[in-house]
Amino acid sequence: MRLRDKTAIVTGGARGIGKACATALAKDGAHVAVVDVILMEEVLTEIKSLGRQTIGIKTDVSKKEEVNHMVARVIEKFGKVDILVNNAGTCQRVPLEELTEELWDKDVNTIMKGTFLCTQAVYPYMKEKGYGKIINVASISGKIGGAVSKKGDGLESKRGRSGPAYAAAKGGVIAFTKWVAKDAGCYGIYVNAVAPGAIDTEMTKGYTYPVQDFPISRMGTPEDVAQVVLFLASDASNYITGHTINVDGGW
Ligand code: NAI
Repeated sequence: MRLRDKTAIVTGGARGIGKACATALAKDGAHVAVVDVILMEEVLTEIKSLGRQTIGIKTDVSKKEEVNHMVARVIEKFGKVDILVNNAGTCQRVPLEELTEELWDKDVNTIMKGTFLCTQAVYPYMKEKGYGKIINVASISGKIGGAVSKKGDGLESKRGRSGPAYAAAKGGVIAFTKWVAKDAGCYGIYVNAVAPGAIDTEMTKGYTYPVQDFPISRMGTPEDVAQVVLFLASDASNYITGHTINVDGGW
């Protein structure tokens, strides 16, 4: 019960990695606000069954007004925000020549702008309390630029290669993590990221990854990522900030 009486917000918490994070935080004692654009009933029921308080708030994290409204509702219900997990994301697997402005904006706005807007919205409350743990879900793509293309790869490719907007947005999240960590340390706010590799979720369904070449030769599970997020949300990581931890089976 390392997170007893803590309040957390998990964006993109309805399914996949976000759902696993929300559940893991609740198992460790936190009350959890789940934020998503899709139905959240399943995760809310799971959190309640653990004896924690929860609220589901339909929010598009790329819209400032919606994000501010969401944080206001969390404050109204719980009075504080101790933990923010910026997890919401989309992934356009489109070659550079075919990437439209709209698709670029979709990934960049959900991933990078969403992380900025949610961080900005909770910042004054965390500063006031002198405490906060912010964990951003980046990606290995944001560090290494995704997988190597093969001639002929196109829209129809089923190899697990994320698109250029996705890699750029995730790289931006890693830089933003460092910037905010430097700004926030003096207020007792810790800011870190995780960089998952190939994780078995809706996002990767139908795509193949070279897992046979990984030291840990399997797809990761959402829980594999959630356990590292939990570590970064807890006092076990109290001398770590500005860091991005790979959760990629050694990829
Ligand atoms: P997922 O597609 O199952 O989950 C993404 C969640 O974000 C969904 O519930 C979706 O509705 C929500 N979402 C999308 N746009 C949103 C918006 N504008 N506002 C609020 N919520 C929104 O995929 P997964 O794999 O669980 O992804 C979670 C995070 O992990 C994403 O940021 C993804 O980029 C990242 N990631 C995933 C990897 C993987 O292999 N699955 C690898 C590296 C990073």
